[in-house]
Order: sequence, then structure tokens, then C-alpha cells
Amino acid sequence: MKLGVCYYPEHWPREWWGDDARRMAEMGISHVRIAEFCWSRIEATPLQFTWEWLDEAVAVLAAAGLKIIMCTPTATPPKWLVDRSPEILAIGADGRSRGFGSRRHYDFSSDLYLDESRRIATLFAQRYGHHPAVVAWQTDNEYGCHDTVVSYSENALRRFKLWLRQRYSSVEALNTAWGTVFWSAEYRSFDEVALPIATVTEANPAQRLDFQRFSSDEVVRFNRMQCEAIRANSPGRDVTHNFMGFFTEFDHHEVAKDLDFSSWDSYPLGFTQMFFLTPEEKKRYVYVGHPDIPAFHHDLYRGTIPGGRWGVMEQQPGPVNWATWNPAPLDGMVRLWTWQAFAHGAELVSYFRWRQAPFAQEQMHAGLNRPDRSLDQGGVEAGQVGQELKALAARVECMPVPRARVALVFDYQSIWMANIQPQGHDYNALELSFRVYSALRCLGLDVDIVPPSRDLSGYSMVVLPAQLREDSALAVQLASIKARVVFAPRSGAKSVDLAIPGQLPPGVFAGLAGVRVLRVSSLPPGVGVSARTANGVVLQVSRWREDLECGDEFVDARFENGAPAVVKYGRARYVAGWLDHDGWVAILEEAAFDAGLEPQRLSDGLRVSRRGEYVFATNFSPNTVAWAPADVAECWLGGDVLEPLSVSIWKVLPSLTALARK
Ligand code: GAL
Repeated sequence: MKLGVCYYPEHWPREWWGDDARRMAEMGISHVRIAEFCWSRIEATPLQFTWEWLDEAVAVLAAAGLKIIMCTPTATPPKWLVDRSPEILAIGADGRSRGFGSRRHYDFSSDLYLDESRRIATLFAQRYGHHPAVVAWQTDNEYGCHDTVVSYSENALRRFKLWLRQRYSSVEALNTAWGTVFWSAEYRSFDEVALPIATVTEANPAQRLDFQRFSSDEVVRFNRMQCEAIRANSPGRDVTHNFMGFFTEFDHHEVAKDLDFSSWDSYPLGFTQMFFLTPEEKKRYVYVGHPDIPAFHHDLYRGTIPGGRWGVMEQQPGPVNWATWNPAPLDGMVRLWTWQAFAHGAELVSYFRWRQAPFAQEQMHAGLNRPDRSLDQGGVEAGQVGQELKALAARVECMPVPRARVALVFDYQSIWMANIQPQGHDYNALELSFRVYSALRCLGLDVDIVPPSRDLSGYSMVVLPAQLREDSALAVQLASIKARVVFAPRSGAKSVDLAIPGQLPPGVFAGLAGVRVLRVSSLPPGVGVSARTANGVVLQVSRWREDLECGDEFVDARFENGAPAVVKYGRARYVAGWLDHDGWVAILEEAAFDAGLEPQRLSDGLRVSRRGEYVFATNFSPNTVAWAPADVAECWLGGDVLEPLSVSIWKVLPSLTALARK
């Protein structure tokens, strides 16, 4: 459990570097991420390099005992490169080139930019790859940030055609897969295919899906190139990339295959304001953020690496500048977010950024320090965690993150399918995944968020909130394991080509789920329907509802008209509507009991995580909460009474299960 910080020596006078490094080390920070936007300072003119300042910065940080996460600077191609080769610019959906002057203006499909990126990444890796203080690398910065995965360029079109040729071999196969006989859209050759843009109305959905798959593969290709350049010149160092929150434009599981550990950038207050939360939730969580937003991503990105190595590369330190509103977090939140990440298994929490920049785009974004070099609240709290870690480090060598007993399956291709065909304005597969996850966490359950291809044996419960895509291998796996399985609506609703499965949804999952979906309805806001379970629990359904065919004896909950709302068939449950929070809690609680788990409804704002013999409790609520595991061996931090925004850590007796005692 290490602390880090993002540092931009190029933003500050050299006379400050030594003092900055000393203070970082004093605070308990051990890792510093540098250089991700510094291309213009290294190569101001083509092939004329100024390494000396970065050499010195590395030396100063290393002299203070700090370890360095070096970045490749490819998120910001410099002006001379853009002017010399404007074809490296991505083309937006409006058909115009992305302008110079911010960042991420490049096109993943530009071979020329790939070559330039390989060149600069190689030079960085050759120069710093063997430096003893350089322990890890970050490729680029936040692939896809500012909506930059997809490009509608000539380069993208050329490479998309190649990609299609490889996927389909014959244009007839493509025509069949896309169903181009519809609206006379048949192609005579791959050359005739265009990008799915500027059509009069909706472009062909299978074509859009393939374009998304292709665009995702372009990110994989770009990242792989950088990983290879780094590995060839910097042996033994970890390579990572910093992913984003609520971002699904490329398949992170595929990108992560080339990484040693995953990392992501956690801005809980910004995400709370910017994403799908209700106005009430945005208000309620304005100063603390929704507690499950960081947790969801911690578990998602932990799951992108089979060994589970991950960290937070950028942690919100105070108010940010980019959300619709940018409130300051309550005092205590920076510490709480840090401990929450460790509770989910982070090996690093790195704050963005050391000092607030008084100039340029992000001057309103806090750092651990203010622009005048004084310590800001985030810095005070980072220092506190530093002290706490020091105290713990003396006693703990390793806190492994064992497998959870609950797996939540997350499939990027299914998310794309739902985005292409939402059918109802507010059917949002990412949101549903988050809501289901949140319900599991409110039941005190630890969750692994895994790709559909992950080995699921050993899990007690597997939840599929948004597995729209038929996946035969997954269906076979689910049939062969012993876990309880919970299917949300739209499971198996689409073939791999984004068509309706021949035997109707849930397609390949029908054998396990014991249902057929005959009809679906999306419901506008304010229109809902209720259902009642066999145990008398009333479920509220909004947004989405399905008409199921199934054996009557398997119906576990019925809509008001008697139609099945939840079907319990063997080990599986199929839920035929979009439930609210309480509904998911009720259904998942029953499933968890059936699975032999011990769900417990936690009080509002309390979250509990287990790392082997260690139990963490975090209190996000404004109230004091009394909670402790049963079978405590030792309390390491905090205690049984959790003040608002506080954390407690216990070591529990190894052989016994932790049960709540109120
Ligand atoms: C991240 C990005 C950083 C910085 C930060 C501000 O998305 O990686 O460079 O812009 O946001 O919150």
C-alpha cells in the first residue's frame, strides 16, 4: 500500500524541485508520476532534444528516495508535428479535424502517428529505462479522454476496411452479418463500405458495432506498440495505463492484456455530478461522492488483470475544474477515498497533483498544495494517511486480495450493443451494472467484476447485469459451475452480430435461465409497474419490462397482471424488469442466501471490504455508525464506533467468517 503523486517539474522553477521532493518523502509519498505531457519541452523542434531538465528532475526525485513512474508523452503531440503532418489529427463526428491547443488530438489509426509515438516512447525508454529510480511506466494518458477513441478519418476508413476483410473474409459474409438486405444496403466489395456516419437516420447497428470493435482494437494496437517499445528498453519494469471512470469506449480487458497492472483516475465528486445519478443523489452526495463510484471502478479495474494488480494513478485531491459543478470535498474525504482504495486492494494511490497550477486550463483544479506552495487540505490528509501507513507497515507485510465469492460479469461489447440500441432513452447498461453492484455492496458483499471469459469456478454467486451479447463459452461455463446465477433483463438479447437470437432472448442462456422473452417494453419516466415476490416483497419496475414465457411453477415474483417478473429456475434467477435499488437489494439478498453467503444490510453510507484476514469499514455517511466484524483478533485503525467519514481496520481470526455485530 503505497502513496504517490503526479508531478510536473516543467511547470515549476528548478529551485523548488528539491524542496518539493523532500516534502513528498516526508509526507510518506514514495512514488512520483512524471512527464506525460512534456513532449514540447523534450523535443521543441524535430530531432532537437533537451533532456537535461528531465534528467535533473529524475535525479532530484531519486535523491530524495522517491520512485518514479515515467510516462510516454504521446497524449500531446507538439505543434510542429501537427503542422508538419496534419493527417495525424483525428476527425470528429462533425467531419472536422480535431484542433491543436488542448490534448488527445491524435488519430489512433494514423500509422504516421504510431511511428512518431514509437520513436518518442523508445527514446524515453532508452534514456530512463535502466534508471534505478524508474520502477514503472505509464503509456500515454487516459486513452479516449474527451471523446477521442473514434475517428472518422481517411486513415480510419482505410484500416476499418482491412479489419472487416480479416473478420469476414468475404463480402457476402459481411452482408449476412450486418443484414444489409434491409433498406438495400448490400455491398459488392469491402471497398464500398463507408464509416457509419452522416447517414440520414440510424446507420446499420451491426456496422456501428463493428466500427466500435475496430476503434477499440486500434487503441489496443497503439498501446501494445508502446508496451513493446518500453519493454524492449526497460526490462523488469511494470507497465500500466491510467483508465478513466464510467468510460467504456474501448475494451479495457483487451488493453489490459498488455499491462502488468491496471490503474485508473478517481474523481468521485466530478463523476457524481457528471453521470447518470438522479438530482437527489447528486445533491445528497455532493461533498462526498457516491460511495460506490470509486469502489465499482476499483473492482472493475482490479478484474482487468488476472492477478488483480491495480492502483489509483490520479486521486481527486480537492475540487476539480471539469465537472458541471465543482464542490470542494468535505474534510476527511481525501483520506477516506485513499483508504477505500486500499480496502479494495490498491497497491498504489497517487494524488493528482502535487501543486495546483496557477496558469492554463486546469488552474481551478486543486492539488495537494496551493499555487503559493502552502499545503492544502488534500495534502494534510495525504500526510495523515502516510503516517498511518507507516504505523501499519511495521506490522503488516502483505494484505492479499483473495477472490471474492460474488462475481459480476462486465462485457464491453454488451455495453456497446446497448448504447447502439438502447430501445428506451434511459436504458443504460453501464448504469444498470453500477446499480446492481451498488446493491451488492449495500449487502456487505465483496465483488469481483470480471470479463465474461474469466474462470468462474469457485464463485458462489454470478451476477449478469448487462450481458446482452450471446456468449456460448460463457453459457457453457455457467452451466458447468455450481454458483447461483442472476440474469438481469436483456441477458442474451443479441447475437454477436447484434441481431435477435434465433430462439429469442435470452438466446444461449435460455437453458440455464428457463425463460423465453416474447416481448419487451421500455417505459418513459414516471411510468412504472409493481411486482410482488412469493415472500411478499413489493418490487418497483421502471424503464424496462419484459414478457416472459416460462413454467408457471418457476415464477417467483409476478407483475400486477400476474405475468412473471422474476423466475427462479434451478440455480438461476431471471429478472424481467429494471428494478430500483430496494428491488435489487431484495432479489440479490435472496440469491445470496441461497448461495450460502451471509449478506447483511449495512446502514446507510457504511461499506465493508475484506482483504483476507483484514476487514475494512468505511463510513461515508454524516452519522456515527457502530459496526465491527465478529471474531476480531486485533483492531488496527479506528474502532467499533465509526465517526462520519472515517475508516476502521481489523485483523480477524483466520478461520471464522466475519459477521456483523451492531
Ligand atoms: C485527468 C487527466 C489529468 C487531469 C485530471 C484533472 O482526466 O488524466 O491530466 O486533466 O483529469 O482532473
